[in-house]
Amino acid sequence: MKQLSTLLLAILLFSCKSEKEEKEPLYQDTNSAIAEGTTSDLSPEAQLGQEVFDGKGNCYSCHKPDQKVVGPSIQEIANIYKTKKGNMVSFLKGNEDPIVDPEMFETMKTNLILTKTFTDEELKGLEAYFYSYTNQK
Ligand code: HEC
Repeated sequence: MKQLSTLLLAILLFSCKSEKEEKEPLYQDTNSAIAEGTTSDLSPEAQLGQEVFDGKGNCYSCHKPDQKVVGPSIQEIANIYKTKKGNMVSFLKGNEDPIVDPEMFETMKTNLILTKTFTDEELKGLEAYFYSYTNQK
């Protein structure tokens, strides 16, 4: 009996999981973020960016909102891009030279292999997400 219920539980968990994966994970998470009231002030574009930033982009491991860790903070990058009118989408496609911290570019460069696979929509989302942190709106 115990074995049977374990089996049923396993099947149940498995079916839930595959059901979840079939849905659009991007929008699903975005909605739950709104429900929590944390990112409701972000544009839909920036919300997509945040999804990628915290999700498959793994950007958060090196970029924090307002302090330098491995990479410059989101705020610093956003402000420099705004001031210098940088093209972040093009940079993430591997078509621009770094303008924030060129000496550390080697560390960022490896991520471009990943960001080059992102859609324009995702890259523009990332840009919008960075810009949501700028203090010169
Ligand atoms: C392994 C750590 C690491 C990860 C992961 C990482 N970055 Fe970076 N990033 C850096 C470092 C270090 C710099 C500073 C070097 C530079 O300016 O290119 C940087 C710089 C940048 C810049 C400024 C580039 C410039 O013009 O100088 C942008 C934009 C950026 N990262 C976006 C991202 C995005 C988007 C992701 C996720 C897809 C990401 N980074 C993931 C380390 C990382």
